[in-house]
Amino acid sequence: MTLDARLSAVLAFIRADTHADIGTDHAALPLALIESGRCRKVIAAELHPGPLQLAQVAVLRAGRGQQIEVRQGDGFAPIAPNEIQSASLTGMGARTMLGILERAAHLPRALILQPNAEPEALRRWATTHGYHLTAEALVPGFWRYPVLKFEQAPGADPAYSGVPQAAALRYGPHLLMAADPHLHAELRAQERRFSALAVYGRPGVLGELRVVQDALAFLLAAPTSAP
Ligand SMILES: C[S@@+](CC[C@H](N)C(=O)[O-])C[C@H]1O[C@@H](n2cnc3c(N)ncnc32)[C@H](O)[C@@H]1O
Repeated sequence: MTLDARLSAVLAFIRADTHADIGTDHAALPLALIESGRCRKVIAAELHPGPLQLAQVAVLRAGRGQQIEVRQGDGFAPIAPNEIQSASLTGMGARTMLGILERAAHLPRALILQPNAEPEALRRWATTHGYHLTAEALVPGFWRYPVLKFEQAPGADPAYSGVPQAAALRYGPHLLMAADPHLHAELRAQERRFSALAVYGRPGVLGELRVVQDALAFLLAAPTSAP
């Protein structure tokens, strides 16, 4: 089974003995995690009956019933304490993910999150819930998909030191530090959008434009930035 660029980027951030994919739908990620050898066992969790059945059929057809357990339930509810080392939530809105994280009675050491939009809400959540942002990617596709890896660690997250805070929370400290070319393209697009709206002088828009311009200035001055 071949994964698209979005799920391939998620896969690259996962390595665990036992992993859970929450909201698995077609179970493409669990199958690729087993077939690539990145995990020994994967729990494919799904809330809704239709996607749950899709996952069950995909796992049986691939003959991976020994390594992938499909379970039904809301978020982390079907996972036992200390059963997994990492979990992924992909292809959902950040608000849905936050609800799942907030309702979880126990969370694993590593979380790999790929929201469709609003990654800032997840970066903010992590800063107050004992996780550090240890890796990020922005993947071109239907739109640019953020992929975030968080790992439990004590104290303040060092990823945010030396980067403008509002820009880092909005656009990603690692992406800014690495002068990521996809982030550069995204920032140019945002700058055009907010500059066009700024002529009306609304404070909210002017604030957004300032964050974009701070991010662009930092990215262009980063040591890894292209000349
Ligand atoms: C848009 S699909 C994404 C599927 C796959 N993760 C991907 O990235 O391609 C979102 C899936 O999450 C499931 N889902 C939504 N809320 C959930 C919850 N609270 N617990 C478990 N699954 C949930 C939906 O039923 C749906 O199958």
